[in-house]
Amino acid sequence: MRIFPAPPDARRPVDVCVGIQWGDEGKGRVVDLLAREYGVIARFGGGDNAGHSIEVGATKLALHVVPSGVLVDGTKLLIGAGTVASLRGLANELDMLEKLGVDTSRIAIASRAHVVFPYHATLDRLAEKARGGAAIGTTGRGIGPAYVDRAARNGITFGDLAKPEAVADKVRQALIARAPLFAGADDVPREEDVVGETLALAKRIVPHVVDGVAWLQAAIARGERILAEGAQGTMLDVTFGTYPYVTSSHTVAGGACTGLGIGPTAVGRVLGVAKAYCTRVGGGPFPSELLDETGERLRERGREFGVTTGRPRRCGWYDAVAARYAAQLNGLDGLFITKLDVLAGFERVGIVTGYRRADGSPAGIEAVGEPDLRVEIEELPGWADDIRGVRKIVDLPHAARTLLDRIAALTGVPVLAASVGPERSALAL
Ligand code: IMP
Ligand code: MG
Repeated sequence: MRIFPAPPDARRPVDVCVGIQWGDEGKGRVVDLLAREYGVIARFGGGDNAGHSIEVGATKLALHVVPSGVLVDGTKLLIGAGTVASLRGLANELDMLEKLGVDTSRIAIASRAHVVFPYHATLDRLAEKARGGAAIGTTGRGIGPAYVDRAARNGITFGDLAKPEAVADKVRQALIARAPLFAGADDVPREEDVVGETLALAKRIVPHVVDGVAWLQAAIARGERILAEGAQGTMLDVTFGTYPYVTSSHTVAGGACTGLGIGPTAVGRVLGVAKAYCTRVGGGPFPSELLDETGERLRERGREFGVTTGRPRRCGWYDAVAARYAAQLNGLDGLFITKLDVLAGFERVGIVTGYRRADGSPAGIEAVGEPDLRVEIEELPGWADDIRGVRKIVDLPHAARTLLDRIAALTGVPVLAASVGPERSALAL
């Protein structure tokens, strides 16, 4: 299926797919859809804070670490060096996939990816508690503390797991260094438990560990194309997102280079994924948020509850200011709009076209997070028809096409496809 307008460039074997909002844009299903055109699907950042749901026929899957192309036979999957993953989570995911008859020998983990330990999750919870009212609303999976350990050079990599004495030593050091942080925790980790569990799980994981750089270069040398799969969304990027209400990794397309170990010249096309409206889970500014019945209706119709945490997601209109910023940050070639069907039945549909400060002066993306920021909303007519059976953009109701046209024009990026239902095939091109 051709979604990108431009053909692939043989000299640039890597295409990138990223979310351009606050995560949960539906990247999982888009990657699952595109996977047939790639030999390799590679995750470049994040960990099991991510929750990708895909539905194929009667099979519904929630993936947290394994890339979303896993249900497409023949693709090879890489959990890249820029990711962090818990051994227990990864082992559970491998078990679940094997029960479904999926060949998991296709799944590789880069040796430079970092291990998330249960004590990282404990530290995550303690830090959130200490933040009180300013809590970030993390997923509680220990992602932040694991990236802190990587940057502080206290981390343990997947490559380390093959050396049991080294693991025991490093865990000991890690726990000594963190002892003060566990003050007041009910579940202070015990060294022998952590080492024991790590070594037991390492047996399950080590066969999948590879040198990610050599592994990718070999795939490229075989002439395979690579799809770099982003996690979370652009507005959660640790540098360019709504800091400090962000995740701890680079979620923008540039993260594919640092997270996989490829040069920028290897990257061809960049696809952005956005919902036809917008959601955010956890704390932090969300300019287009609807705190009224309309927001409630979006949440119900869109089944907007977190895959990883079950939390209700905050809902609002498509934010074209944030989307334009994301188009620049990622160098987007095209947009894939998801969940268009959720908007059926709304009398009017909004798009946020600008921000204004409390004094009425116009503001841009830099103002996100300022108190009393207001949004300008362009209202478009809605449509009543159920569009789940539509397979061509030209066959959509006029109002739905107008919405897609406005999204493209205001974002400055062409809309290449829209999903109109949760099924793999529910897609208008
Ligand atoms: P952390 O990544 O668990 O540290 O959480 C930091 C912020 O990112 C919180 O607001 C989370 O709700 C958000 N977040 C992390 N992963 C996802 C995701 O996959 N989808 C949506 N939000 C996420
Ligand atoms: Mg998600």
